[in-house]
Amino acid sequence: MSDVRATVGDSSWFVHDRFGLFIHWGLYALPARHEWVKQIEQIPDDVYEKYFEHFDPDLYDPALWAQATAEAGMKYFVITTKHHDGFCLWDSALTDYKVTNTPYGKDLIGPMVEAYRAEGLKVGFYHSLIDWHHPDFVIDDTHAMRNHPDRATLNETRDQSKYAAYLHGQTRELLTQFGDVNAMFFDFSYPSSENRVGKGHDDWDSEKLLAMVRELQPGILVNDRLDLNDVEGGWDYKTPEQFMARNWVTVNGQKVVWETCQTFSGSWGYHRDEASWKSTKQLLTLLIDSVSKGGNLLLNVGPTGRGEFDRRALDRLSGMGTWMKRHARAVYGCSQAPEEFRTPRDCRLTYHAETNRLYVHILNWPLKQLHLDGFKDRVEYAQLLNDASEVPFHALPAHQASIDPTAAETLTIDLPVLQPDTEVPVVELYLKK
Ligand code: GLC
Repeated sequence: MSDVRATVGDSSWFVHDRFGLFIHWGLYALPARHEWVKQIEQIPDDVYEKYFEHFDPDLYDPALWAQATAEAGMKYFVITTKHHDGFCLWDSALTDYKVTNTPYGKDLIGPMVEAYRAEGLKVGFYHSLIDWHHPDFVIDDTHAMRNHPDRATLNETRDQSKYAAYLHGQTRELLTQFGDVNAMFFDFSYPSSENRVGKGHDDWDSEKLLAMVRELQPGILVNDRLDLNDVEGGWDYKTPEQFMARNWVTVNGQKVVWETCQTFSGSWGYHRDEASWKSTKQLLTLLIDSVSKGGNLLLNVGPTGRGEFDRRALDRLSGMGTWMKRHARAVYGCSQAPEEFRTPRDCRLTYHAETNRLYVHILNWPLKQLHLDGFKDRVEYAQLLNDASEVPFHALPAHQASIDPTAAETLTIDLPVLQPDTEVPVVELYLKK
């Protein structure tokens, strides 16, 4: 880890665990057409209110969620305590706009945190910096009321510093009422530009907020969306969203701790009609690809208004769990492979420094031979990870080497013609000491 930018918070568990669950849950589960629905459709507060009046997730059982998450092989979770619509999932003393005032009537966060801890997972809180409900949040160009005819007049009585105090107060509640919190995911800053009125660190009083977070929860890991990119210790990890980094994420040329967050289908909140669900194999590829570049995957589920993970989500989670059960050691504690090992075509490499094992994740099953450039004389033993069946290896046979100028450093593995019965087969290489 020595060439990776140091974090203020404790990132040791984070870079080991690699795989977490994001949960986006709130009133927007009821319209079921995107968590930004209030903003996209510019729904006025009094109309959006119907979701508050009908929020009643009667089937909510966090023990079931935690179990499905743990069985998928995930090691931490991050829950939206509040999203941009301002609705709070815990019994905050600072607002009435909270779950305890809905028909459901109970705190959602406490039982969730308890259930996940019982399964051995670490706890992360997502908290929205943005708030389209709070009366002091100054209406900007991203606000649900951005086109309100009385925007200017309404803004005259809004006091952003009062909102910042509310934001700080709620963050304090979250970090004092639920025990140890391992990660804090603030979302998000969008500083004003020439043609757009936005918000940045001054609007959140970010430096003070961050200082309080670190004081209340020493060791907590904080993401990079407080608009403190240029401040020393202003963030711990980078969060590329909905795209895959092509290399280990760097800042000013230095590798950093990073995590990509991704959805199953596009929307973060429950979306009933979205058909663009990624396959289990695509999702596993996201995970493997992240680890092969020294990063994490935070994969998101949007539970329904009844309080369940829907069938499509459960299918993916259990499919990933089936793979993780047999391939976890190619993920946990693993990172990018040392550079001298070149990545074979259609593969990703992960490496476990302590065990000195290298993993070749085969995304597209080749015909009989797998060629590993730069691996000659480096391997002591090789097996398929799914069933620990040996795979023979040798230098490229002479008749093949005679037509292949790159053969000198190549190790060739003999694979069965048939792909093993697993989404992404992995060859485990025990490297020589
Ligand atoms: C965003 C979106 C959002 C989602 C989040 C996840 O910035 O506003 O709805 O919560 O990213 O990273």
